[in-house]
Amino acid sequence: RRPLRVALLGCGVVGTEVAHGLLENSAELAARAGAPLEVVGIAVRDASREREGVPAALLTEDAEALVDAADVVVELMGGIEPARTLILRALERGASVVTANKQLLAEQGPVLFEAADTARADLSFEAAVAGAIPIVRPVRESLAGDQVQRVLGIVNGTTNYVLDEMTTQGLDLEDVVKRAQELGYAEADPTADVDGYDAAAKAAILASLAFHTRVSIHQVAREGIRHITRDDVEWARRTGYVLKLLAIAERTDEGVAARVHPALVPTDHPLAAVRGAFNAVFVEAEGAGPLMFYGQGAGGRPTASAVLGDVVSAARDRLIGGKGPHESAYASLPVLAADAAITRYQ
Ligand code: NDP
Ligand code: HSE
Repeated sequence: RRPLRVALLGCGVVGTEVAHGLLENSAELAARAGAPLEVVGIAVRDASREREGVPAALLTEDAEALVDAADVVVELMGGIEPARTLILRALERGASVVTANKQLLAEQGPVLFEAADTARADLSFEAAVAGAIPIVRPVRESLAGDQVQRVLGIVNGTTNYVLDEMTTQGLDLEDVVKRAQELGYAEADPTADVDGYDAAAKAAILASLAFHTRVSIHQVAREGIRHITRDDVEWARRTGYVLKLLAIAERTDEGVAARVHPALVPTDHPLAAVRGAFNAVFVEAEGAGPLMFYGQGAGGRPTASAVLGDVVSAARDRLIGGKGPHESAYASLPVLAADAAITRYQ
């Protein structure tokens, strides 16, 4: 089969890891996708700056030309513009789009989804909520036949890391935010994390998917962690609680209600055990009952895992029109005979 041309928009914390994944695991990804995934270029603001493990020849400052040359466009720039215009351009051309841009989805989701519907093009965004955790697809697809009542959890890795370090190390908020930036957890402008905008965007996306409606970030009540002090976290600890920034979206008699705010979680509650930049989301559905999703919610590698999953899935959709793995993916690893497998466990 001819290679699928993949364009990356952005080569920062996440984009660099996605580029590494595509370039270093090309044979395995080709087998899973059903065709080679050829990186045709990576758009950045400054193409003269070196990026470790990324060939300089792939870097370009002409994002529009790159979009026009691709079958699959992976948007990892962040922000509203030019990401919005580039995604719309890609969808109008019939390209598949993968994005991790929760801010854009939570503010302009309807415009993007309508463009995708009109062009009958794929728009996937597993990485936009809770980093590596598969939560978008389960809520959007696996629970589509159920009635979700409530979605609740920790969906921002930076603030969870910050509150955790304040509690365990006795540090001040500003110092830990700097560290979260260095670790690649924080947004380009960490105000989005600290003031709860990032969690509110994710709450809006999850609520839209869970309740089959359109919830914008502006409809999510929001309070961040900026005002929380070392004394607050210490007082919480002494009284048997942990401070967590929670996102909650629920079906009520009047409609969908969504909010983000710091909350005192009892130390024996499962959410209290969510440490560092990890996230955890509980979904309560009428038929399924309670479900829990847990994993790394931020950072380059974990987020790239979700992005690459969407890229492979988009490629399969284009090639074989369905979600299943391409048949050639099954031949790639040898399988031990049953007696050899048992021997390994003895
Ligand atoms: P970074 O700020 O690290 O990277 C952004 C990249 O986009 C840079 O390479 C930058 O170019 C490029 N870029 C930005 N604006 C433009 C522009 N106008 N034209 C061309 N290139 C541009 O961001 P992250 O990798 O952290 O995040 C990317 C996206 O992923 C965001 O939407 C973010 O919310 C989302 N996300 C991030 C997670 C994380 O843990 N970091 C987790 C989940 C989602 P240059 O390098 O030249 O400056
Ligand atoms: N800044 C975000 C966070 C990145 O800390 O959760 C993951 O979406």
